[in-house]
Amino acid sequence: MNEVAGEMPSFVIADLMGLPLTDGRDLYRLTEVIHSDPASLPEGAGAAAVGAMFEYGLSVIKEKRARPGDDLASQLLSVELDGRKLSDEEFLLFFMLLVDAGGDTTRNLVGTGLYELLNAPEQWRGLAADLDAMMPKARDELLRLTSPVIYMRRTLTQDFKLHDILMKSGDKVVMYYGAANRDPRVFDRPHDLDIHRGGARHLAFGGGHHVCLGQWFAKLEIDAILIEVISRLKNIKILETPQWLNSTFISGMTHLPISFERH
Ligand code: HEM
Repeated sequence: MNEVAGEMPSFVIADLMGLPLTDGRDLYRLTEVIHSDPASLPEGAGAAAVGAMFEYGLSVIKEKRARPGDDLASQLLSVELDGRKLSDEEFLLFFMLLVDAGGDTTRNLVGTGLYELLNAPEQWRGLAADLDAMMPKARDELLRLTSPVIYMRRTLTQDFKLHDILMKSGDKVVMYYGAANRDPRVFDRPHDLDIHRGGARHLAFGGGHHVCLGQWFAKLEIDAILIEVISRLKNIKILETPQWLNSTFISGMTHLPISFERH
């Protein structure tokens, strides 16, 4: 996960924000802790990771204000909306959102997606046989099946009826993307990987006003990594049972040790 799936997503976020690429790796390690169930961590580790993320963000504010560059962090610090700049607190929260949203999701899709493909050799062969043409369909199917973000929460602004259940304005609702993505009313054989399904009808990137802002980056990264792995490696074997991130929010692995040969 660290050596293959994680490098590019960590580097892309760092590059976007105008940070040293290796810092992207360190920031990723913090997101892994932030997304973990606090009960699975030493006491105070989650809060310490958030503290370290904000501390790093403060150093970004200082550096980019002193020496603005052609990067997203500098733009976020200088841009005005309704005549007002982002406060330091708003910048820090947006910084953490971007690091969290861009790293732990894409990396997990690549790792869990490879795992699903390795467990369905005929699907792997179908993809490898026509890699460039099949990749967009396969990537969308892997997004559907693995749903790296488990849920988001909303507060209803009006009454709403869904499948005969009336929810009231003000209710807090949780949207489980994985459940929607395996809805048998929408997807035939919902638990099966089928790269030939076609069509991006999944909700792995959410929807509405807050639909994933980075989905186009994510798709480019996922395709690039999977194409390299599938075209370069053969006889891939899973060596150990993968370890899953202990999280109710992000679905993915922390370790997926494999052996392989090169083409
Ligand atoms: C496989 C990869 C990814 C998945 C599955 C994913 C999934 C999601 C989901 C489910 C949401 C919430 C949508 C909602 O609240 O309705 C979201 C929001 C967001 N994502 Fe992604 N994401 C991925 C990659 C990325 C990347 C690479 C970036 C940045 C480069 C990114 C940046 C964001 C941001 C900024 C938001 C907040 C948008 C808002 O609230 O307006 N995501 N993403």
